[in-house]
Amino acid sequence: MLRITQGLLAALFTGLLALGAWAVDLTDAQRAAIEERIKPVGESCLEGDTSCGGAPAAAAGGGARSGEEVYNAACMACHMTGAAGAPKLGDAAAWAERIARGMDALHDSGINGVPGTGMMAKGGCVNCSDQEVMAAVDYMVEQSQ
Ligand code: HEC
Repeated sequence: MLRITQGLLAALFTGLLALGAWAVDLTDAQRAAIEERIKPVGESCLEGDTSCGGAPAAAAGGGARSGEEVYNAACMACHMTGAAGAPKLGDAAAWAERIARGMDALHDSGINGVPGTGMMAKGGCVNCSDQEVMAAVDYMVEQSQ
């Protein structure tokens, strides 16, 4: 009885292995197509350090915009001219003391705004994800030291 059970188990196990190999072959054949299909979502999720799928702008565009793109679209109006006292891009003196407070503080200002100033939350860019605003802040800081 024991011998039969072992034999059965061995047969079953071999069968499962064969089945497994077959299933992997199938997956391999389809893997490229599947990866191609999920790629944009996978990429934006990998880049994001916040919740996956919580970035409508990124999802709609098939990928997060670069800091420079976001700056040009949503921040330049004030930060190029210095409107309303905005620190100008490239003005190292205007940025130095802000940069000294640390990137976390500047990311926070970018996302939540600076109360009582012209700096609204996300610079008023309602379709910018947090991640994109942070990239724009990084870009502005890089260009201003
Ligand atoms: C309507 C004008 C306006 C727009 C648009 C705008 N900003 Fe600002 N921003 C300001 C002003 C004014 C300040 C200065 C606030 C202050 O007095 O500290 C400022 C300050 C900042 C600071 C420094 C905050 C600090 O804590 O020192 C950051 C970072 C910043 N903006 C990022 C952005 C980003 C990123 C965008 C685009 C997504 C943007 N801003 C769009 C007006 C604007």
